[in-house]
Amino acid sequence: MRIEIPTLVKWAGGKKQLLNQFDKFFPKKIDRYIEPFLGGGAVAFYIIKRFHPKNVFLSDINEELVNAYKAVQLNVPELIEALSLLAKKHSKEFYYKIRAQDPQKLSDVDRAARLIYLNKTCFNGLYRVNSEGKFNVPIGEHKHLQIVDTKDLMEINHLLKHAIIKTMPFEKVLDFAKKGDFIYLDPPYYPLKEGKSFTKYHKGDFSKIDQERLKSIFDKLTKRGCKAMLSNSDAPFIRDLYKEYSIQIVQARRMINCDATKRGKINEVVVTNYKPIYQKTLID
Ligand SMILES: C[S@@+](CC[C@H](N)C(=O)[O-])C[C@H]1O[C@@H](n2cnc3c(N)ncnc32)[C@H](O)[C@@H]1O
Repeated sequence: MRIEIPTLVKWAGGKKQLLNQFDKFFPKKIDRYIEPFLGGGAVAFYIIKRFHPKNVFLSDINEELVNAYKAVQLNVPELIEALSLLAKKHSKEFYYKIRAQDPQKLSDVDRAARLIYLNKTCFNGLYRVNSEGKFNVPIGEHKHLQIVDTKDLMEINHLLKHAIIKTMPFEKVLDFAKKGDFIYLDPPYYPLKEGKSFTKYHKGDFSKIDQERLKSIFDKLTKRGCKAMLSNSDAPFIRDLYKEYSIQIVQARRMINCDATKRGKINEVVVTNYKPIYQKTLID
């Protein structure tokens, strides 16, 4: 089944290209959906379109990002207007002027418009901050620049109509998860080479200890009777950490990498605490 999904922002580790491979791992029916590492939202949009869950809880630790989702959910006409104003003024000088702004001093809508504008016009659509939490990606070169995608923004507004969207660390997922819920966990990738983490989505890094803490949350969700699915890099540490669960492989083309020669297809793992339907049909 081919489902087109809209895009709000391009995000490192985005799962849009993997949705066709993921589809066979999702449960057959989803009533309540929870996603605590929301990022670019590709999986959330897909799940909402495909399964129409009654309850949707979405969160991420990145406050800028969550603010943008909320602006689309609550103030889409104002957001489109603010973004259109930025788009009209776009130039190299203007980009760096907007990048230098302190987002905390802007209104929620202007803050969201700033994030989307920078994401569309920066190098590689990358979100990266320095140690002070300031966005530090240079301007990009774009042949076809579409800063305001009204159609996608309107569709996302529609898809998120009844979603609860929060800024929070992943552990808080336990405050929401109930028996029978489906939870998709997409943490920052564990580096394939130790010490080589390229992705920095917010001030803190996602360490080995965070991966272990996440595993203990995965175990708790399992005990609670939730269906949990997690993706990560195909690193020996991750395979070992989740060895008691079902591990599947998907192939991803990773475009955001600082080393252009390493932009190939790589294996990634999908861990589930249930037997995916396609396996059941193969076996049963
Ligand atoms: C791999 S990305 C998710 C990509 C997403 N599935 C998509 O398709 O775009 C990981 C996300 O986890 C968030 N994150 C990092 N550390 C976190 C934490 N401790 N708690 C919650 N979210 C966190 C980052 O801000 C980032 O958006």
